[in-house]
Amino acid sequence: MKVLVLNGSPKKQSDTFRLTDAFLRGFNRSGEHEVTVINVIEKNIAPCRGCFGCWQQMEGHCLIEDDQNEILDLYRTSDLIIWSFPLYCYSMPSHLKALLDRTIPLVKMRMEQLDDGTVRHEALADFSKIHTLVICGCGFPNWEGNFDALKLMCKNCFCGPDIVCVPETPMLNVPAAAIVADPLLAKFEKAGEEYASKLTLTPETVAELERPMISAEDYIRNVNGG
Ligand SMILES: Cc1cc2nc3c(=O)[nH]c(=O)nc-3n(C[C@H](O)[C@H](O)[C@H](O)COP(=O)(O)O)c2cc1C
Repeated sequence: MKVLVLNGSPKKQSDTFRLTDAFLRGFNRSGEHEVTVINVIEKNIAPCRGCFGCWQQMEGHCLIEDDQNEILDLYRTSDLIIWSFPLYCYSMPSHLKALLDRTIPLVKMRMEQLDDGTVRHEALADFSKIHTLVICGCGFPNWEGNFDALKLMCKNCFCGPDIVCVPETPMLNVPAAAIVADPLLAKFEKAGEEYASKLTLTPETVAELERPMISAEDYIRNVNGG
């Protein structure tokens, strides 16, 4: 499979990418998959200008000549796209959002209404064959609603994505927290193996991956200095 990993953390030592890396280790244990990791922060991707010039051309490219067209080419030809990023203000970091906005050349102006009532633009090609996995880490402990906006955006922007939202991810880069972080990394590695065989994750696996490493009370106490 051709796998495109869009790493949206601006940091060299991304908490979230530690999870993604563990997942990829399990996923590509056989070494048969071609994995391309793009550190989006290193790319030159301007914000969308909203000109809709891409819809006049219908070639799946953007009129802005920067790194995005190369990414669109990779996007179209991938079998699996993994979006790996930290939660920023209940959404994705702005440089990654710029990339997402600029996938608009991959759809047409024409709209269609689905059986469930939702409306979307027709795709330029059958992108439903591309599998999407979202791995998002965040700095808050688990609380109802923290990931709601992100999950809704991902469901509407991608075709049937698997979404894994992990609280307390700053602990992944704290050596003293290895006792709880390492088992989570092991779970991600195992989930990668599961994904390689089924190309999806069961709700039970997602629940395991999203389970907080420590209680909200302990996490808040540690963040606040004990
Ligand atoms: C600008 C900014 C906004 C953030 N917004 C949120 C947020 O809305 N909710 C949350 O739980 N954490 C938020 N965080 C914390 C990050 O998601 C957290 O530190 C994460 O572990 C960073 O992951 P990374 O190392 O992969 O970049 C924010 C951090 C920054 C810098």
